[in-house]
This record gives sequence, C-alpha cells and structure tokens, in this order.
Amino acid sequence: MDFKIELKKRATEINDSLDRLLPPARTYPGIIHEALRYSLFAGGKRLRPALALAAAEVINGCRRDIMPAACSLELIHTYSLIHDDLPAIDNDDLRRGMPTCHKKYGEAIAILAGDALLTMAFELLSMCPVNNSITPERLIKVISEISRAAGVGGLIGGQVVDIVSSSRNIDGSVLEYIHRNKTGAMYRVSVRTGAILSGAADDDLERLTRYADHLGLAFQITDDILDLVGDEKSIGKPVHSDLKNEKATYPSLYGMEKALLMSQEEKEKALEAIEVYDERADFLRELVKFVVKRNH
Ligand code: IPE
Ligand code: IPE
Ligand code: MG
Ligand code: MG
Ligand code: MG
Repeated sequence: MDFKIELKKRATEINDSLDRLLPPARTYPGIIHEALRYSLFAGGKRLRPALALAAAEVINGCRRDIMPAACSLELIHTYSLIHDDLPAIDNDDLRRGMPTCHKKYGEAIAILAGDALLTMAFELLSMCPVNNSITPERLIKVISEISRAAGVGGLIGGQVVDIVSSSRNIDGSVLEYIHRNKTGAMYRVSVRTGAILSGAADDDLERLTRYADHLGLAFQITDDILDLVGDEKSIGKPVHSDLKNEKATYPSLYGMEKALLMSQEEKEKALEAIEVYDERADFLRELVKFVVKRNH
C-alpha cells in the first residue's frame, strides 16, 4: 500500500462528509461559519477520523454509519488547534500552512469558532444512525468517552499541565502525562470510537486501545522533534514554537537521539499490539510507521 495515497483518498472522503454534515458556509451569521470552515478545511492530515474508520475496518464495522462520529473527532481536534494557537496559549501565527484563525478573524471570533466546533461535534455524534451495530448503549458509551477525552480527564488536563509547566523543570513522568493527555487521549478515543460502534469484543478493544496509546505517544514525541528539525513549509506551522514558549519536550528532556529512539520504541509496541490481525489492520500499521517518519 502506498500509505500517503491511501491517506489522501480517505481524507477526501472525510472532507466530503464534513462538508455535508456542517451548516453551509453562507449560513447566518456568516462570519462564524466562514471562520470555522477556514480552519477546518485549511488542510490537516485527518488522522483521527481515519483512525476511527480504520479501527472499524479491522472488525468489519460499517464505515458509512460511523462517519458522523469520525467527523466529530476532527471537529474537536480542529477546535483544539484554534485555541492552542491563541496568544494566551502558544501564540502562533501559522497553522495548516495558513494564518491562524485569530490572525485572520481576530481573537474573539477564533475563540467562538473553537467553541462552535466543539459543540457541533456533539451534535454530529447525535446524528449517528442507531441500528444493530450502533446500539444506543454503544453510542452513549462513545459520547461519554469522547467527552472525557476532550475534557479535563484528557486534552484539557494535558493542555493545562503543558501551560503551567512552561519555563519550569519538569520530570519525565509529568511530560508523559502532558503528552498522553493533550494528544494521546484523542488518539485513544478515536480508535475506540470506531471499535465500540462496530461492536468490538473486549479483547479486540483492548488490543486496539493499546495500539492507540503507543501511537499517541509516538505521534507527540515526533511532533516535539519536528518543532526542532522540521521545516515550516512542510509542517505548515511555525518551527521553534516550543523553544519560544520554553516548553519541556522529549528532545529537550532526553536529547534528540534518545527521543528518536523512544518514538521508534512506541511504534514497535503499537505494531506488536495489533500483530494478531490480518491485512485488514495494514492501514493502522502503515499509519504508525508514517507518524514517526513524517516531515509534516
Ligand atoms: C497537531 O496535530 C496537534 C498535535 C496534537 C500535536 P496534527 O499533526 O494531527 O495536525 P493536522 O490535523 O494534521 O493539522
Ligand atoms: C497541542 O500540542 C495539542 C493540542 C492542540 C491539544 P502542541 O502545542 O505541541 O501542538 P502544535 O505543535 O501547536 O500543533
Ligand atoms: Mg500547545
Ligand atoms: Mg501549539
Ligand atoms: Mg507541537
């Protein structure tokens, strides 16, 4: 499989669904729909919805039925990026290769565009068709897990510790908490969303969750590395943002060589977690390899 071509194909399918599920750009009040669509369709790898769909594939779930839930994960992710870039948080001017939402629309609209995407995510979740596979119990479980992953028990908790730790010496366990929460929680819940809505058995859910946890850490260690050695044009966001904000990162704490090694170890553990599956898990395998090799 040529992973990049396959990911592009899947991203196009996800983008079409996002476009259909969201209110049209001309909906009143125009400015907010324009702003949220600006950030959402600026680019983005679409890894979280792609993971939900890929996890469903492993256990023969119906991709079409879980698409609204997959899209909801991208809305939450995009909201988190808009808010992460705000002057009060990372103060970055470039995202997905374009001026950040607050640079283009001002801070107030950027805050509100983030709020709108977050709430819209839950509206999309409520649009999943209830059927034999997506039972009410499974849907409620997913809504509960996504709420937690996006909240203080996940993304927000990680962002808070990230912010209060800047310019401070923190140890490896605090840094791991930050990464597992600000980034890892959404990876974990993305995979679990696809699996749970497809009726995964306990052992499948456990293996896929283990895969996602290692993937999430591998992803954020690589994100830290790209802040130092990436190229602004490729990553579509400023380099040295972590340096500017005096953030603790894997390379700053362990050195570049060790950080690279740690990301490789996480990749191997992710692959090991799903080794029992046949070629239906190949997309997941290629995805984790891509995550540690990527330049964007
Ligand atoms: C960037 O995530 C934010 C982090 C969690 C580090 P991605 O690298 O997945 O960003 P997009 O969606 O492709 O822009
Ligand atoms: C942000 O981590 C993670 C979330 C948005 C929740 P970073 O601050 O490292 O992400 P980038 O590097 O700006 O994409
Ligand atoms: Mg940040
Ligand atoms: Mg940032
Ligand atoms: Mg980063």
